[in-house]
Parts: sequence; C-alpha cells; structure tokens
Amino acid sequence: MRPVAILISGRGSNMSALIEAASADGFPAEIALVISNRADAPGLANAQAKGIKTLVIESKPFGKDRAGFEQVLQAALDAHRIEVICLAGFMRLFTAEFVQRWYGRMLNIHPSLLPSFPGLDPHGQALRAGVKISGATVHFVIPETDAGPIIMQGAVPVANDDTADTLAARVLGVEHQIYPQALRLLATDGIKIDRDVTTNTAGVDANDCLIAPTVI
Ligand code: GAR
Repeated sequence: MRPVAILISGRGSNMSALIEAASADGFPAEIALVISNRADAPGLANAQAKGIKTLVIESKPFGKDRAGFEQVLQAALDAHRIEVICLAGFMRLFTAEFVQRWYGRMLNIHPSLLPSFPGLDPHGQALRAGVKISGATVHFVIPETDAGPIIMQGAVPVANDDTADTLAARVLGVEHQIYPQALRLLATDGIKIDRDVTTNTAGVDANDCLIAPTVI
C-alpha cells in the first residue's frame, strides 16, 4: 500500500473523507500522515481523533521563501516514506521545482469543473457566469494553480436561488465522493499520465471517473 500524506490548511472535510475511505478493508492506499501549514487548522484534531499522525509546518515564518518551506516539508515526507500527496484545501503555492519533483504523484481537489473557475471564489464565479451545472475536479498538480491533467470530476446542478454557500455545500458532497475514488484509481494504477493528459488503463472507463446528475 502506498503511504499518502494529506496536506491541509483548514477544516479538512476532504481529508476526513479520504481517511474514512482508506480505513475500509481493501482500500489500496494508506493515509500515513496529515500535514498542516497552519497550527490552528481545525482538521488537525479530526485527523488525530482518527488515529492519524499529524505534523504542523507553519509556512508563515517562511514568508516568500517557498523553497525554504518546501525543504522542511520534503524532509518530513521523506522521513515518512510518502509516495503520494493529496492537497485538501491546502492554501499555499509551491515552486515549480517541488511540483516537478512530485509530478504524477501529487493530487489536488478544486470545487469547480476545471478548467472553468480556477482560483478564489469558484462558486461566486460560477453563479456570476450563470452556469447550470457545476462541480468539483481532482487533478494532478502542475505549476499553474488549479490546473493540470484531470483524473475525476463530479457534477451537481446549480439551482436558480443558489448562493455561493448553498452551491459550495452541494459541491462539497460530491468532493467527498470523488477524492477517495480518484486516489483509488491512482493507487491501483487505473490511470496514467501521458504527455500531460490523464488516461485510463484497461478495465477503467469514463464512468469510473465521473459522477453526474441524471439529466432528463
Ligand atoms: C474544498 O472545497 C476544496 O475543494 C477547496 O477548499 C475546500 C477545502 O475544504 N480547495 C480549493 O479551493 C483549491 N483551490 P476542506 O478543508 O473541508 O476539505
């Protein structure tokens, strides 16, 4: 089983969904470590309550010295023999060098159907654009923020009276489904990256990489 580190900055509900899924018999990856770049991240207590080792590596003291922060982070990942990183609401950008080092082994989740609405306030962006469907995306991390080869998406309808908060809550439900499924696909070699595009391997079809509402 591949040892996975989950990186968080806050609430950690996606972290909890990953921990929960990985605790089931037969899940092909082990959540070995949760790292937060903020000591006050509420998710830390949840991880500890579930018996997962946690570490805090405060990024604030490093200021703009991203490489300095990443050196400490990489040492922790090495010490725990981590093979896969899942970013789960981790609100700190990486250097291109760090991303390259973890290319194909670092996943992120973003609450929109990428490439639409990357960055901040994705739900506000979706509502302002008037889209009728939104959702969440799990993708491999590349140097560009909220971009990279897509592994899995989950879609939800947008209601006429949605606010950013109600849409966020609906999208979060599907996030909790697709992140464990995407990690399972990676850990079982159900996907591979080929020239910056994610492709499915034998036995995995498009439906394994999509959760979508029924459209009548
Ligand atoms: C999630 O909605 C995640 O998709 C988003 O932050 C939230 C973290 O919630 N990530 C991004 O916006 C990345 N650009 P959580 O801490 O409860 O998992």
